Amino acid sequence: MVHAVVGAQYGDEGKGKMVDYFAVQAQMVIRYQGGGNAGHTIVNDYGKFALHLVPSGIFNPDTVCVLGAGVVVHPGNLVKELHALQQGGIRTDKLVISERAHLVMPYHIWQDEYEESLRSEQVGTTKQGIGPAYQDKIGRFGVQVGEMRDEARFRARIESAFEAKLRREPALASYGTLDAMVEELMAARKVLLPHIKDTIPLVREAVESNQYVLLEGQLGLMRDVDWGIYPFVTSSNPVAGATSTGAGIPPTAITRVTGITKAYTTAVGSGPFPTMLEDANGIFLQEKGQEFGATTGRRRTCGWLDLPTLRYGAWLNGYTELALMKMDVLSQLDQIGICVAYELDGERFDSPPPAYLLERVTPVYEYLPGWSEDLSDCRSFEELPARAQNFVAFIESKVGVPIRYVSVGPDRKQTIVR
Ligand code: GDP
Ligand code: IMO
Ligand code: MG
Repeated sequence: MVHAVVGAQYGDEGKGKMVDYFAVQAQMVIRYQGGGNAGHTIVNDYGKFALHLVPSGIFNPDTVCVLGAGVVVHPGNLVKELHALQQGGIRTDKLVISERAHLVMPYHIWQDEYEESLRSEQVGTTKQGIGPAYQDKIGRFGVQVGEMRDEARFRARIESAFEAKLRREPALASYGTLDAMVEELMAARKVLLPHIKDTIPLVREAVESNQYVLLEGQLGLMRDVDWGIYPFVTSSNPVAGATSTGAGIPPTAITRVTGITKAYTTAVGSGPFPTMLEDANGIFLQEKGQEFGATTGRRRTCGWLDLPTLRYGAWLNGYTELALMKMDVLSQLDQIGICVAYELDGERFDSPPPAYLLERVTPVYEYLPGWSEDLSDCRSFEELPARAQNFVAFIESKVGVPIRYVSVGPDRKQTIVR
């Protein structure tokens, strides 16, 4: 079975937790897009980890973890991440990196910083060089991971790629030197070489022999470069359609798509967020939900759940099921808002329009009664208070997709299956 796990909102929905949960049974986990901008927090018997690039299947010694061709890899940061995992007692030898993935070069991180300073309205990027690396890939200036293999050729390639970059962006010359860059990349090269492969035979064998293959997304639908709140988006496609191109699997092989959504909404970075709360409820969700970015440490803004976004994703991502995360955070609210539609100039929208319109919409809310009970020890749907069960049933009926998982805490064990 090929099973995609995708973010249904603005990122940080809890994809890492659910991929870790599913990975116990998976033979392979493939990251299909994005790079070190991810912050996927995992809590399991090994401890608490924040993964940025490594697939969230790494805690399973028998699971092969693949970085697909759609991913961008910062070699130095990946080496640091592998080192941190090894120090936590985690084996990392099952990590495979596609020779076709692209490198995030040190100058891409400089460019991310520089280009943000040029914008009239900042995107609020993670400054991990993601946008510039994808720009170079699409612009055909990029360097593929496989090019690291031949040492002499790679050295020459770094030099020529940096020169070409400086011809296009002369301002980057003041950010660092070629020598330091070569030294950093050569050191990382030594560690990464054994992991670099042609991933097609491996992935093909897994799919053709009917193994359980998980596809792990980074970020969420609303930050998708085509379908999100452009230009306040990332430079790749978190949507399920990109699993095929990014992982190297035919679209017809993907049979299960789990959309991951919080029971409310959060975002880091700029752009329209119709259900954002600037009142005591927003502060409650931020504090109780501990909503801080795992990569940048930035405070996430919080708001009520947005059903137009879930409905939009139900079509675009083809969810076969949803996982509703962080239900435990909602306890103790008198009433819980749910946005069921938007209004703009007298017109009703059931799914999000592009950002230039979304920034002007007014959310239409329905309010459901809250509950006071703590949910974190509930292990079955029946143990949830009736009002919490109603909340789940209400979302399900409005979105038209079954909510198969309800998460009541960060730990792998705090997951209710229906
Ligand atoms: P990802 O980027 O989609 O993998 O999500 P993040 O890891 O960035 O953010 C989700 C945060 O919520 C992490 O700190 C998780 O440990 C935490 N988390 C996940 N599920 C739950 C849950 O059901 N309840 C609570 N309280 N925290 C959760
Ligand atoms: P995970 O995988 C939340 C946001 C940034 C910014 C926009 C573009 O943990 O869900 P980028 O650095 O990609 O060019 O930034 O996307 N962003 C994230 N927000 N979680 C993430 O990753 C994010 N990765 C990027 O804040 O608005
Ligand atoms: Mg995250």
